[in-house]
Amino acid sequence: MDRPSIDLDWERQRAWVEIDRAALRHNVCQIQALVAPATKIMAVVKADAYGHGAIEVARTLVAAGVEWLAVATIPEGIELRAAGIVAPILVLGAIDTDVQVRAICQWELQPTICTIAQATLISKAIAQLAPRKPLHVHLKLDTGMSRLGANWQQAVAVYRELHALPYLEIASLYSHLATADDLDPTVMELQVDRFERSQAAIRAAGYTLPMLHLANSAGILVGDRLHYQLVRPGLILYGLYPAPHLASAIDLRPVLSVRARITQVRDITAGTGVSYGYRFIADRDLTIAVVEIGYADGIPRRLSDRLQAIVRGQLVRQIGTITMDRIMLDVSQIPDLQVGEIVTMLGADGNNKIGADDWATELGTISWEILCGFKQRLPRISVN
Ligand SMILES: Cc1ncc(COP(=O)(O)O)c(C=O)c1O
Repeated sequence: MDRPSIDLDWERQRAWVEIDRAALRHNVCQIQALVAPATKIMAVVKADAYGHGAIEVARTLVAAGVEWLAVATIPEGIELRAAGIVAPILVLGAIDTDVQVRAICQWELQPTICTIAQATLISKAIAQLAPRKPLHVHLKLDTGMSRLGANWQQAVAVYRELHALPYLEIASLYSHLATADDLDPTVMELQVDRFERSQAAIRAAGYTLPMLHLANSAGILVGDRLHYQLVRPGLILYGLYPAPHLASAIDLRPVLSVRARITQVRDITAGTGVSYGYRFIADRDLTIAVVEIGYADGIPRRLSDRLQAIVRGQLVRQIGTITMDRIMLDVSQIPDLQVGEIVTMLGADGNNKIGADDWATELGTISWEILCGFKQRLPRISVN
């Protein structure tokens, strides 16, 4: 299920996402150095690897020593399998139909189980298949996120049922942290405590514990008590910090840059309105550049008139409303700018850089949302 390949002539591309594989490898090394040698990394590559392009990212990660991958949905897992990736893949989302179970089995994915009903459905669906192979499943406990998972107080009851069902092998017990990036560790400690009490209860019921995992990016940076046998980094793989106070724990390099080309350079006189709604009116004569990237590519329209870009290493301001396919920049300070020159929207050029965090702060959102905003219209180019 590889995407249709387009003959991309990079010299003439209007806009693209640049993926720095060396930065990705660097971030993996940094995580490997933080966790114990026996602790495995499960790279979270859902949502097209946080907008970075799942196939290329997964290949690079696996080559860098990452042993596990996690996706949110079955189609995301199939996309990786169809591209020839053989690493074990955990599907983080819930499944509740026979069709999903068949796809999971066919593509050798590993599902998350949150309820006895799901486990029973999976077991019964496998019983209808030929050949009937046992499936590795992962029991998720809700220890305080109030999202997916069996209530941690029912851990033993659910574990017992799962264990007794044919065709299911419990590969791991896991949970997800709600507040690991908070300065105040109270809720996180409570979740760790509940996770550990669940483990103790399962052990006390006579079972040998499977692989355990809890830590997202922030959980990894908080300390090794949360690492168990496996960690599930997302954001830090892509080179961004989950919170400023965790930045000293690791040295990361942003993996993604977004660049676009100038298609027109024009002079406008004082009083000229720019773009839809004339939210910008030139207060003096200006030179403006029209750049081939817009909100359909992932540039948030709400950043209109608040965005900066880098041209020839210099920061310039974006002016007027961001449109679907293009934006305008005030490039009056840059002499003799040419059509075809490259504009950096995110990333570094010369001594300047703009990060997803900068946009997130300006918008009052999180960098995760900014990264996931770069969808398929922008081709991904790998460098390094
Ligand atoms: C279950 C689970 N584990 C790990 C992660 C990775 O989170 P982060 O990007 O904060 O590392 C996610 C992402 O949302 C998740 O849903």
